[in-house]
Formats: sequence, structure tokens, C-alpha cells
Amino acid sequence: MHRYPATALLAAALCCACTTAIAKAPHFEKQGTATQLIVEDKPFLIIGGQVHNSSSGSPEYFERTVDKLVQLHANTVLAPVTWELLEPTEGTYDFGQLDDMVRTARSHRVRLIVLWFGSWKNGVSQYAPAWVRRDTVRFPRAHDANGRPMSALSTFSENSRTADKAAFTALMKHLRAIDEQENTVIMVQVQNEVGLFESRDHSPEADSAFAGQVPQALMDYLIANKGHLTPHLEALWQQNGRKERGSWAEVFGSTKDGDEVFMAWRYASYIGDIAAAGKAAYNLPLYANAWLASGEPGKFPSGGPNHRVIDVWKVAAPAISICAPDLYADNFKEVAATYHRPDNPLFIPETHADVWYKPSALLLHQAARNVFWAVAHHDAICFAPFGLEGQAVGGPIATSLKLVSDLSPVILQFQGSGRMEGILQTEASKAAAPQLEGVKEASGTTSDCDIALGGYVAHVLYSTVSPDDRAYGLIINTAPDEFLIAGDGLAVTFSSATKREVGFAEIWEQVFVNGAWVNGRRLNGDQTNQGSVVQIPFWRWDNFDTATGPRVVKVELFTHD
Ligand code: DGJ
Repeated sequence: MHRYPATALLAAALCCACTTAIAKAPHFEKQGTATQLIVEDKPFLIIGGQVHNSSSGSPEYFERTVDKLVQLHANTVLAPVTWELLEPTEGTYDFGQLDDMVRTARSHRVRLIVLWFGSWKNGVSQYAPAWVRRDTVRFPRAHDANGRPMSALSTFSENSRTADKAAFTALMKHLRAIDEQENTVIMVQVQNEVGLFESRDHSPEADSAFAGQVPQALMDYLIANKGHLTPHLEALWQQNGRKERGSWAEVFGSTKDGDEVFMAWRYASYIGDIAAAGKAAYNLPLYANAWLASGEPGKFPSGGPNHRVIDVWKVAAPAISICAPDLYADNFKEVAATYHRPDNPLFIPETHADVWYKPSALLLHQAARNVFWAVAHHDAICFAPFGLEGQAVGGPIATSLKLVSDLSPVILQFQGSGRMEGILQTEASKAAAPQLEGVKEASGTTSDCDIALGGYVAHVLYSTVSPDDRAYGLIINTAPDEFLIAGDGLAVTFSSATKREVGFAEIWEQVFVNGAWVNGRRLNGDQTNQGSVVQIPFWRWDNFDTATGPRVVKVELFTHD
């Protein structure tokens, strides 16, 4: 017997009978160039924590996990609801796991993103119920290059698609019944890191579909978006003569890369179908997460929603709003850029909470830095370290998440406006020897990074104090001549295109008191290198102000000739 309470009673308890107006379900809206998630009529920045895979596997464990995530300043928990627990017996749904998760999230005042682990998770089918996995005749598997069945369900299995779709639709319908008024669940992920550990399925059905014509909808998209496709797809199409019709091999080539496009169509069609049915039951924003492409297709799950084939997913799975990177790569900036497009806002459902396997100082606490770049440079909707619950309360990640969360009203206000920019030093510091001021000499236009905002150029110098002390943060032009700067390991001076001199009229430390940012200390003297620079930390030789980590400063500038 499983450990969840009887579903019907709990559903009734969760489903408020109140008469208040139902808020519009969470949805996306454009603000300038940004796409934002709107929850209860307000933009919402997801400071998330994705729990370990089995942490929603019992109510007690989930309760403890969510409790910890709240202490780490997550406002949203991303956690699995699994097909095997939802439909342990064919045709009988048990919503106990989901009900418990919703109740736990509510009692901790956090939002929830449900991860639907159905037909596939990490390329295989371990979360399909045993009655599916046992029956290889009714629920056929993909075949490897030698024609042998693999453990993963085949995208050609109509029976598994139908059963998964029915279960997912039941989940969404139930969610609507218990949560339409409260909006605890704000988004749903459909499957997890799908794709095949072969460049393509070699079952007889797959072979015959692969020899068939590329669907007209995909051809029409390629033709309409010629020159604007993902560089990978554009190159494949170009290398194979930019044909306007033909078989998969004719249009995309007889290579593993060509196979991947075919598999992307297969997975996206299967998942798009399930997603559309679920969305019809309850219209929540849906997304699919990607195991990043690295090496050749098959070494990474072939056909998943990675940056190379996002276009294919856009055509085949319109009910999936976002292809989201599980961003465990060291080249965070490059990868993030490939997923951020006008039709695909940046949404990071998983990223290193910390470095588990490489003890390089340069990579330590990378989430604590990367979050600023994601929300300020890319207008990200979500940043969620994986296994966040394992991090220390009050540690670097917790400190950054709290700060970004406290700044979220202003971040959300300026997303998409062209008046906010992220700062993220990716190269190693150029020197490790401390200088008296703690920063390099801030002079004129010498800088590591120039940011043009509000008629000024902010010249950002990276700290050279230690190799593990890379610069990160954000800068916002909050009003004419006014800037908010948040981060650490940096020094900022300004120049103007029209005036010879720029001076600091005022520099204020900002502190968060009772839910609002207010002036703390007026900064001057050593803390600003005699009024010449905004520097964080303010003064490394102050052994009374020993707080470490990111700080926030507000400056007002003046200019003269
Ligand atoms: C990526 C997967 O999507 C997660 O579910 C989890 O397995 C992590 N990898 C951890 O390794």
C-alpha cells in the first residue's frame, strides 16, 4: 500500500468552495522584448529549486525538502509527479501524490511546477507504470541500430501515447479542479530530457517513416524561415541542397545529424499531442526540458528539445511554449544565448547548484553568479538549481537567490526595456594579487566590460583579488542619471557620449527592510575610492563590515564639460 491519503477526500478538501473571482490562469505576456510569466495578474520571476528525483516520492520527505528550499529563498518548487504512482493500475488514477505536493507547497507559501515523468525521463522509460513496461507487445520499444529492442518506449507506440495522454489529461483536469482558484501550480513540464540513446529508432515502423516524405508543415516552416533557422538546421538543410520536398535523408542527410531531426519530429509530435490534450483540460503554460547536445546524436538523447532542433519542436509541438535547457555546461553564457529567442524565452529548470564533480575554484558557486546574468541579460523567467535543498542556509547560492528575489519587482519592471544588463565574468581573473583599493585603478574608459545604458557607458572593472572572485551582478538605469548596481567583485565608473566629465552626485548602499529597498549608508571616502568609483565589496580592509557576497548600490550621476 502506498503512503498517500485517499484521493477523493483530499481533492474535496483542496478544492475551495469559495465564491471569489477566479484569477486568469498563469500565462505569458510580452513586455518590450521580454516574455514574462503572469501569475495572479502580476509578472512573476521564478526563483526555483528543483528537488532530487525521488524527493516527492513520500509526503514526509517532500515536506522536509520544501521546508529546506524555503530557507534557501526559493519561491517555487519544481518536483516530479510520476505516471507509475498516478496510474498504478491501468485506467485507475490516484492523485494522492499530486494532492499532497499541492498541499505542502501551499502550507509553505511557495508555488509549484509539476514535472510530468511519463513515457520518458532521461531518455528511458523508468517512470512508466509496470503494466506498461511489462508488456512489450502492446507498448513497443524503440530499436537500436542492430534492430534490437531498447528499454525506451518507441515514439511509434500509439498505445503508450494514448495511455500517457489519458493519464496526463486526467492530471491536468484534476489540477484544474483543485487549484484553478489558488494557482499554486503555475507551470507543468511535459516528460523529462527526452530523446533516444541511438541517433534514431530502427524499428520497422521507424524505418518506413524515415523513408517517407518530410511532413509538409516542417517544409513550410523551413521555407518561411529560411535564413533565420537555428544555425545547425540551416547548415544541414544547406548542405543537402535546400530541397523543398523529399525524404528525411534527402532533405537533412544520411547522417546522425539528419537522424536527429527525424527523431525531434517524432518526440515533439508525440509530446505535443499529449501536451495539447492536457492544455485543453487546464490551460497552464507547458514546457519541455533538454539534455544539452554535446558530441553526436545518440551520445546525448537524440530528438530532445535542444538548441539545434528547437525549430522542429516549434512546428510539431505548439502546445509546448518553451524548450528549456538543463544548463549544466561550464560555458553558461553561450548555452543560455542559444535558447533565448523571441519565440522561446529563457527558462532554466535545472542547473548546477554547485560543482559536484570538478573542484575547480573557478566553477564554485556558479549558480550564485549565473542567476544575475540569466534574469538581467536574458530576461529569464526561471532559474532553478537542481538539488538546491542540499545547499547551505546562508551560503553563497542562498544569498544570491535572496537578493534576486528581493530585487525581483525592479527586475521584472525593467525586463525587456533595454535599461537593464547583466554582468558575468567568465574568464579567470587576470591577476591574483590584492591591490590596496581592492580593484584595479578605475580610470577613464579602461574596463573589462562596457555597458551602454541611459545615455551613459558604465565601465565595469573585474576584481583581481583572487581567482575565485569573479565579477557578477546587474545594472539598471532606474531613472534619468540614476542607476541601481547589484553584484560582487566589481568596480564601476561612468562616461558620457556628450559631456567630458561624469561625477557621482550620490552613492547609497541599499538595504532591504520590511519588504522594501531603502537607503543604508551614504557611501564615500575609502568605500568609493575617494568618490571615483562604485566598488563592491566597498572596502576589503574594513574588518567590521565583514558581510560577504553581493550588495546593492544606488547612484546618481551628474555631467559637465
Ligand atoms: C538531469 C535530469 O533531468 C534530472 O532529473 C536529474 O536526473 C539530473 N540530471 C541529475 O543528475
